[in-house]
Amino acid sequence: MVDKAKKEKPSAADFLPEDRSLESLRSAASACQGCELYKDATQTVFGEGSVRPHILFVGEQPGDIEDKQGRPFVGPAGKLLDRALEEAGIERSACYFTNTVKHFKFEWRGKRRLHKTPRQIEINACLPWLKAEIGEVKPALIVLLGATAAQAIFGKAFKITHERGKLLESYLAPRVMATVHPSSILRAIDDDAREQEMALFVSDLKHAASFIQM
Ligand code: URA
Ligand code: SF4
Repeated sequence: MVDKAKKEKPSAADFLPEDRSLESLRSAASACQGCELYKDATQTVFGEGSVRPHILFVGEQPGDIEDKQGRPFVGPAGKLLDRALEEAGIERSACYFTNTVKHFKFEWRGKRRLHKTPRQIEINACLPWLKAEIGEVKPALIVLLGATAAQAIFGKAFKITHERGKLLESYLAPRVMATVHPSSILRAIDDDAREQEMALFVSDLKHAASFIQM
């Protein structure tokens, strides 16, 4: 009976520890079986960074490299994010980095593991971790990177193209901003488009920094 209920509505909630320190959360998340995604991934990729961040960045889910290393934003999208932060004059050490979903979802293509977009049910299941992280580190500003993160917080109707760069309010933090995901810049059709999108991304990040005192 209990198992059936779990299947119908997967959630990380049962795995959350009473002690909400980051270390305790990280340790509990490493054993999370709140949805099916833990089964094929290497490990939980929990957030990391400043414990009192100016900005908390939320991506979608770990990629192939993050899954292997157990750390968020250490692959190609993370490298691009690093470059954009530097161009925007934002110190990486003043930020916290995490994801909406903490396990890598993928499908095999030959010997490669290709990113697969998480389903709503998995996003919902994993949200307790993100909420607990935010509750613990209390960022001055949250920056949502891409549609998965933005829609997890603001609902499916939220459009990054309409709302990017705007200062938004949310129950999660006094200030929230959404922008594109760095991997969308990597996927730009040519160098010119990539350069343009990078400039827009950096401009959003500068705007983000201007919302708070960094
Ligand atoms: N993309 C994400 O959304 N998160 C990561 O940690 C890496 C790539
Ligand atoms: Fe738990 Fe999230 Fe991993 Fe699902 S994706 S098993 S809810 S940590």
